[in-house]
Parts: sequence; structure tokens; C-alpha cells
Amino acid sequence: MEVSILPLHRTLDVRAGDNLLEALRQHEVPVSYSCMSGRCGTCRCRIVSGNVLMTGATDTNLPASNGQTVLACQATLIEDCVIEIPEVDEIVTHPSKILKATVAGIDDLTHDIKRIRLALAKSFEFSPGQYASLQFTPQHVRPYSMAVTANDGEVEFHVRLVPGGRATSYIATQLKVGDAVRLSGPLGTAYLRRKTSDPIICVAGGTGLAPILSIVRGMAESGMNNRVHVYFGVRSPRDIYGSRWLDELKERLPNLTTHVVVATAGEPGPYRTGVVTDAVNQDWDTLKGWRAYVAGAPVMVDAASILLRHKGMKAEHVYADAFYSSGV
Ligand code: FES
Repeated sequence: MEVSILPLHRTLDVRAGDNLLEALRQHEVPVSYSCMSGRCGTCRCRIVSGNVLMTGATDTNLPASNGQTVLACQATLIEDCVIEIPEVDEIVTHPSKILKATVAGIDDLTHDIKRIRLALAKSFEFSPGQYASLQFTPQHVRPYSMAVTANDGEVEFHVRLVPGGRATSYIATQLKVGDAVRLSGPLGTAYLRRKTSDPIICVAGGTGLAPILSIVRGMAESGMNNRVHVYFGVRSPRDIYGSRWLDELKERLPNLTTHVVVATAGEPGPYRTGVVTDAVNQDWDTLKGWRAYVAGAPVMVDAASILLRHKGMKAEHVYADAFYSSGV
């Protein structure tokens, strides 16, 4: 039985019943993956012709056919087919792990956002923009985006405390330096694409700034000199944070421009006011040929994604995860 791989024009000899991701790895086809359990979305590819059987996600195995997007790690090969693999030159393979961590620091970034720094016993490989699941206790488990890069030693997360939120109440009232945390990851497909010189827009809402900081820090680390505009939207001036880090990054990345947009400024002040997506809309007639990273509350992410495509950006160049760093 054969599987043809686009755009590589390679044909693999496989057996019925083989897992698609395993088959691709065995034949050294460049494919991204992390969790190997259908959670992270990194191994997504498209069925061009033929059928595969989707396993794992539901109790019933369902066939997936022409045009459908599937997770390679959850697909069983059942007949000859043609598969398209995205971004063969931007492969990330950081097998997901469960790691023991210790809280190394907790500090306030704003009135309701805390920075949590974790020290890890073993190295944790991830791409800028990815996230991890943090288990504080068996009852308190939440996904949060890394705000730093894998080379920074400690990992850092930004957590907005939500009144009545179970995990965030625990973080606010009980978590302390020295506590043990289980970290599982990395997860997520909205990671920094390093092999492009396309101009970039980053749109962050609230603690969505964390993965955007990671991405821009990753750009600086890799010596990327793409033109990049970061839009950071907050509810009010007291929700602004990270200005110092963004200023430091501007010194390292001369092509970086930042825009802080405050929804309700109250008194007239130095800030641009309004909705962050409206600011992007006002500033750009076209974004054809650009790429975007978007993180924040789901409603903002959806509005930004629609706007960016409307401005001419290719849908596959708008990177946002199904998990949004909303801080709930
Ligand atoms: Fe397939 Fe994560 S590797 S979904």
C-alpha cells in the first residue's frame, strides 16, 4: 500500500493499520509533532485523495477523506492516499513531556496579573509562542503560554486572576515560592516561524502578551530582522504591563514598533483609545504578504483573524491557537 506526500512528491510503502504520524517519522518525512495524542494540533495535515481512519478523538473511528484536515498522530492508514504536509521547512518536534517544576518566583505585573516563574529540574524544549498545561494540584490544572524562550533557563507565565476562577483563586491565595508544579507540554501551533522575511503583525489582548513576548524574544534571539508591529490591547491604563520588556526588545529589533491601545482610558491621557482590532484596521489598508500571531480572549482572536484575512493576509499565515491565553 502506498501513501504519496505533497509537496515533497515522495511515495512511502506502508501497511494498512499503520499510524500516519509513525509512518511519516519512520520514513523521515519532515513533519511537526509534539503530544502524539491529538491534543496539540502540531501534526495537522490534509488528505488530498483517499481515506484514512480517524482514531482516538471519539469512541467511534471515523473515516476522513478528500480535502479534510486530520491530525496525523490520530490517523490510521487504510488504503492508498495522498497527504499534504504543511510548512515542510518549518518543522518543530518537541515531544511533549511531563516535567517537575518548582515555583521560583511570584510577583505582581498589574492589579490582577501575576507573573509566575518556574525552575525546572530538566531542560524543556519548546518553540516561542507555545503553551503548557500547569498542574498546581490535581484539582487546579490550567494551560498557560510561556512568555520567554527555551534558552532563558526558567519558564515564565502570566496569569490574570479571575474572580471566582478556581485555578486562579488558588494561585492568588495559596501558591507560594518553593511549591511543586507539574508542567506538561509543549502544546500549540501558533509558534514562531523563523524561516520567513515576511513582515509580521502581533495582536495581543491582556495576558495574550505572554506568547507574543515569547515570539518577539525568539525573533531577537534568532537575529530575524523582519518588520514587526505589536498591538497590545488592554481594558484600562492600569492593565498595561510589559512596557519595559517591549522597550528592551525595540533596542534589539530596530524594525519593531509597538502600539498600546486602551479600551476605556477614562481621563484624557497619553494612550491611544479604542478596540485593538479597530486600531489595526485604521492603520493598514492592506496586509497582503504579511503574517500574524494573535493571542488573547477568544472574541478578540476571532475578530482579529477575520480582519486580517479581510486585509489580504492568507488564512494559513494567521497563527492563533484554539487555546487562547485568556487567563481564566
Ligand atoms: Fe498530533 Fe499533537 S502531535 S495532535
